[in-house]
Amino acid sequence: NGGFPGPTIVANRGDTANIHLINGLADESITHWHGMIIDDVNDGHPRFAVPSGGTYDYQFPIVQRAALNWYHPHPHGKTGEQVAMGLAGAFIIRDLDEPSALPAGAPYEVPLIIRDAKFDRQGDLEFKTKRSGFEGDTPMVNGTLDPTLAVEPAVYRFRVLNGSNARIFDFAFDNGMAFHMVGNDGGLLPSVVPIGTIVTSPAERLDLLVDFRGMQGATVMLRDLRTGWDLLEFVVGNGPNGQDILNQLPSQLSTIIPLSAPVTTREFAFEGMSRINGREFDMQRIDEYVPFDTVERWVFSTKGNAPHPIHSHAAPFQVVSRTGGRGQVFEWERGWKDSVLLEDGETVEVLVRFDNPVLMQGLDSTYLLHCHKLSHEDAGMMLNFQLTP
Ligand code: C2O
Ligand code: CU
Ligand code: CU
Repeated sequence: NGGFPGPTIVANRGDTANIHLINGLADESITHWHGMIIDDVNDGHPRFAVPSGGTYDYQFPIVQRAALNWYHPHPHGKTGEQVAMGLAGAFIIRDLDEPSALPAGAPYEVPLIIRDAKFDRQGDLEFKTKRSGFEGDTPMVNGTLDPTLAVEPAVYRFRVLNGSNARIFDFAFDNGMAFHMVGNDGGLLPSVVPIGTIVTSPAERLDLLVDFRGMQGATVMLRDLRTGWDLLEFVVGNGPNGQDILNQLPSQLSTIIPLSAPVTTREFAFEGMSRINGREFDMQRIDEYVPFDTVERWVFSTKGNAPHPIHSHAAPFQVVSRTGGRGQVFEWERGWKDSVLLEDGETVEVLVRFDNPVLMQGLDSTYLLHCHKLSHEDAGMMLNFQLTP
């Protein structure tokens, strides 16, 4: 609709989404609702890509708990270019289980899509194919260069998405103040986690409270410690302090029942820049048959060409271990995740259960597992799994 990023969609659990896609691009495209638990004909699988000028009608119920999801194109081989050129936006789901003290909506809840970008001489967005991953030389927040946000001395809720094709950010404030992390990909964590630095790879989300109370007149910079980039400057106003929301939150933000007792273990080796378990993506081939409503252990490993941010469609997972490499599960990886970062030499174990009845209502219940470094995904580091009754 002409905006960059795309409009933020907000829906409540129990709503039905009716979305009409008109492909105005010269290439084929199809939109995927990343993080959404929906049947396969609505999931934006590349086999549903429509040609230039084509249309696609989505209709799906919102059946999952509150979370920040997002939407982006998913045509095979073209995802990286279309995302880099700006086709992405936030999709916020709300429900009545979220504590009422949490800010919801403007001005105290702010979605932040943070990504890198590259520009040509005319100042237009530019994309260059690069197998090792497309990285821009300039950060943008919500499509804005060198952004500033005027805030009150109050507690704000930032819904953060790393919308980059390949870049990992290490978020931190320049004055050392903490984020109060309340959630990530799959919604709220069990409790508030104060933390100074958070590593976020492409497609990962964060739900962060930031307390500007008592900071009248100050400026604070959100930075990326990897590049040293300034990402977003907050300018705190001189009004009275807002409410102490952090103290009004319940000590238990949400209940997360740990998955346990996996029935099956599947191993996925992410190899080179285009293969999983030795094979490149084939639209027609089903690589795994996964029983519905069964706990499984999925083991992701890689020897090289990382980072590989690994993403599964259709259900979130719980990260249970990381061995090799960084050797631990980080605070921002607790709760429900649908994307997890795999660095060189690492093995990450997750538990997953595809248990929402909507997943079995599509055409053939075929979903995707892939690397979310979009050049790897486009080159074939992706597979089909089919859910079986
Ligand atoms: Cu955000 Cu299959 O991807
Ligand atoms: Cu997805
Ligand atoms: Cu990869």
